[in-house]
Amino acid sequence: MNRHAPLILNVDDTEAARYAKRRTLSHAGFAVEDAVSGIEALQKVEALRPDLVLLDVRLPDISGIDVCKQIKQRWPATAVLQTSATFTSPADRTRGLEGGADSYLIQPIDPEELVASVRALLRLHAAEDKLRQLNESLERRIVERTSDLQELNAQLVEQIAQREHAEAALVQSQKMEAVGQLAATMAHDFNNILASVVGYMYLMRRKVDDPALLALSDKALSVVDRGRRLTSRVLAFARSDDLVTAAVDVRTLLHGMEDWLRQTVGGAVTLTVATDEGVDLVATTDASQLELAILNLVINARDAINGTGSIGLHAGVQRRETADGDLPAGDYVVVSVKDSGSGMTPDVVARAFDPFFTTKPVGQGTGLGLAQVGNVARLSRGAARINTVEGEGTTVSIWLAWGDASQVETFSRSGFGDLSGQGERILLVDDEADIRRTLAQLLGDSGYEVESAASGLEALTLVAVSPPDLLLLDVLMPGIGGLEVARRVRQVHPRIPIIFLSAHADAETIAAEVPHAALLRKPFMREELNLQIRRCLSGPRAAPVTPPA
Ligand SMILES: Nc1ncnc2c1ncn2[C@@H]1O[C@H](COP(=O)(O)OP(=O)(O)OP(=O)(O)O)[C@@H](O)[C@H]1O
Ligand SMILES: [Mg+2]
Repeated sequence: MNRHAPLILNVDDTEAARYAKRRTLSHAGFAVEDAVSGIEALQKVEALRPDLVLLDVRLPDISGIDVCKQIKQRWPATAVLQTSATFTSPADRTRGLEGGADSYLIQPIDPEELVASVRALLRLHAAEDKLRQLNESLERRIVERTSDLQELNAQLVEQIAQREHAEAALVQSQKMEAVGQLAATMAHDFNNILASVVGYMYLMRRKVDDPALLALSDKALSVVDRGRRLTSRVLAFARSDDLVTAAVDVRTLLHGMEDWLRQTVGGAVTLTVATDEGVDLVATTDASQLELAILNLVINARDAINGTGSIGLHAGVQRRETADGDLPAGDYVVVSVKDSGSGMTPDVVARAFDPFFTTKPVGQGTGLGLAQVGNVARLSRGAARINTVEGEGTTVSIWLAWGDASQVETFSRSGFGDLSGQGERILLVDDEADIRRTLAQLLGDSGYEVESAASGLEALTLVAVSPPDLLLLDVLMPGIGGLEVARRVRQVHPRIPIIFLSAHADAETIAAEVPHAALLRKPFMREELNLQIRRCLSGPRAAPVTPPA
């Protein structure tokens, strides 16, 4: 039997007819199996799966019409050619075809017609089969393609979201830069105007001795002072753009601020400071800007709790496995300030980091606190985040890129808690009388003993007579400039801490000319000045670090 020849099941109970059909079909090259009853026919279809069943209508057990119906129901791909010698009327043929037969032939059948009919039916079925397969594979491909497209679409949606996010971040940072520049220019000019007003007021005061007028001018001076404080904040914010990063030990920094922060928030507020133990809390950031940022957060928290409540500061290490918005994956030192205050509405959260956004009354908030916090975080390769629940409280976190512990400059912060001085002697050198007077007043109020010099030469003379604990030096002065003074003082007294005051000098030039000196940009806030002085006075050059016992 030819394995590839189509298999025909030849069903007829009349032996002669069955034999004749078998002979014809075998002769034409088909494989042929016989069955003599309806039951046997069904069993063989199930077992052999023939390509075509040649089915006589009259069978001893089940009628051929019913056998055909069952075959078509269970194996619809099998072709059925019904034959009959007894049921030959058009009605019989109709019944057969409606029972599911693919064709109906009346016996006796001409052998050639039988073979031709079988071939035609097999062709038809093969074509149908192909079509069905094609359909199935088409459906499968459509499903596959659809899921590919869905995946592509999801990727596209994500890419679009990422791009929109990046664009928004870019726009925001450009906005900040533009606002910062504009504000800095304005604040700078405005500061000069205020300085002139102060000058004229002092001149005026010399010419009057009416106590009422003097009291009014006192008021005017205090308002001008508020204006100067405001412009210093604006400039401090604008400057937070060019901070100088280094490895900073955040644990030391935070604990060093503790007492001083407690004084700032007042006695009725519980302020706690906690840092994760057993891990380096070293961040790549700018120590004084970070201190200012923490101060800004604590002042915000104090305002939010309105007198009573708690403020918790915490520093720890956190790892981000995946990027989160403007925060890339990586290791971070996270400093957070949590308060039990009023919380913020979503509207306020959305704008909180915008420069000049404030909900505080005129004169009480400039809206630059969180803008500075955001800047420091961004420039420390991190980000700032707000978590808040209205009526319950707020946590603002500063994420700072983790730094290298071996690069941390060690310095003792012992006694640093209190920002005020303990009678240390400061030599203040500035050619502008106004600045000398204001600064001397300010430093005196902070508990320092101040001596002033109006020129480099005068400064050098004073140092030679009695070296001070710290030198505050203007950079640009007629005659011997600040850098030259510093160099000469260092030759004789290499350990005197020096802080330069300048609006223009750049930190790199100063670092190259006078190593280990600090730079404070004019105008500065009182807190900045005090912080810088405390830092220098407690640094290793002023008092060598003794390892803890
Ligand atoms: N801890 C907080 N709880 C509730 N609201 C806060 C908190 N911190 C900030 N805010 C809200 O965000 C606004 C912006 O804060 P930001 O520190 O930038 O400015 P400010 O405090 O208003 O002014 P400035 O800090 O310049 O004195 C605040 O006015 C306040 O509405
Ligand atoms: Mg604030």
